Amino acid sequence: MTELIPATPENIARAARVIQNGGLVAFPTETVYGLGADAMNAEAVARIFFVKGRPPTDPLIVHLSGLEQVSHVATSMSPLARKLAESFWPGPLTLILPKRSDVPSLVTSGLNTVAVRVPNHPVALSLLHTAGCPIAAPSANRFGHTSPTTAQHVWQDLQGNVDLILDGGETIVGVESTVLDVSTDPPRILRPGGITREALQEVIGTVIVSQQNPIAGESFSSPGLLEKHYAPRAEMILFKGKNARTALLAEVAAMRAKGKKVGALLEDKDAEALAESGATIYRLGSDLATIAHRLYAGMRWLDEQGVDLIVCKDFDETGLGLAIRDRLRRAATRVIERNG
Ligand code: TXA
Ligand code: MG
Repeated sequence: MTELIPATPENIARAARVIQNGGLVAFPTETVYGLGADAMNAEAVARIFFVKGRPPTDPLIVHLSGLEQVSHVATSMSPLARKLAESFWPGPLTLILPKRSDVPSLVTSGLNTVAVRVPNHPVALSLLHTAGCPIAAPSANRFGHTSPTTAQHVWQDLQGNVDLILDGGETIVGVESTVLDVSTDPPRILRPGGITREALQEVIGTVIVSQQNPIAGESFSSPGLLEKHYAPRAEMILFKGKNARTALLAEVAAMRAKGKKVGALLEDKDAEALAESGATIYRLGSDLATIAHRLYAGMRWLDEQGVDLIVCKDFDETGLGLAIRDRLRRAATRVIERNG
């Protein structure tokens, strides 16, 4: 039985007891909802993999109540890692650190590193402080599906399989944390996310972005970054290149002529160009923060409308655009590039 309850102080205290007793609690963070268990309890962590349908080769992020808890799961923190933690925690930055041997190997899929972050959300922080243990938490969705940004999204994916869902309203950032490997020089972004490359570079200088474009078939450096990820159920086509919008409009017309119901996930200026196209349109907004915030909800909403196909357009890599582009590319089943 799963209970969906408001994140009141009493319910957070109850959720903390569930975690301490080896149960599973879905809770809001500033990025997306997480599916949490006591990170030091191997059996509880095993349940996370089971209910998500997540392969054991895909390691989890360990959430901490503060910088002082790092020593519970990691053997050391370089001066650079500490500087980043001091600048961005609590916040959507996940650091890859050397793992302590008493962290169950299931958490890290057998790697000798552990991914850690301090979430910037009052409910998550209160849960972490009250439970008193590090909490391992992937996004609270079925594996491969779109990440949840509301408690209702979690309910749709995981009802019946988790003990509690704490409802703390919509998440703010909307895309997951930035995962940064600080063991290399320069440090490397393994997954772009809520903290931008530019923001990181202001603090520590050059940061590179690991090339892990699933469509180009390049290799992955973060285990578990599988090809189809963050995806809606409908087929999704991503248009890129100079004439992306024209090609997108032509595809919508062609598919509509075949009797297909077409959904479009677009920023406002592109959405306006499609107003007369007959597509079911989800407007993402006009600034990158709003677009990131609405991205996953838009994919889920279009699925609910029963569309056969979703069309979307590429973003450039500035600021949050890098994370938005990454999620669209992973969600897409096909990419069409038009330059001429
Ligand atoms: O914003 C977020 O990060 C959310 C919230 C709930 O905190 N969590 C999240 O977790 O997105 P998940 O499990 O969906 O993604 C974890 C990512 C995966 O890409 C995984 O490969 C990477 O972190 N990761 C975890 N441990 C790692 C490690 N030791 N080395 C490299 N990558 C790691
Ligand atoms: Mg996930």
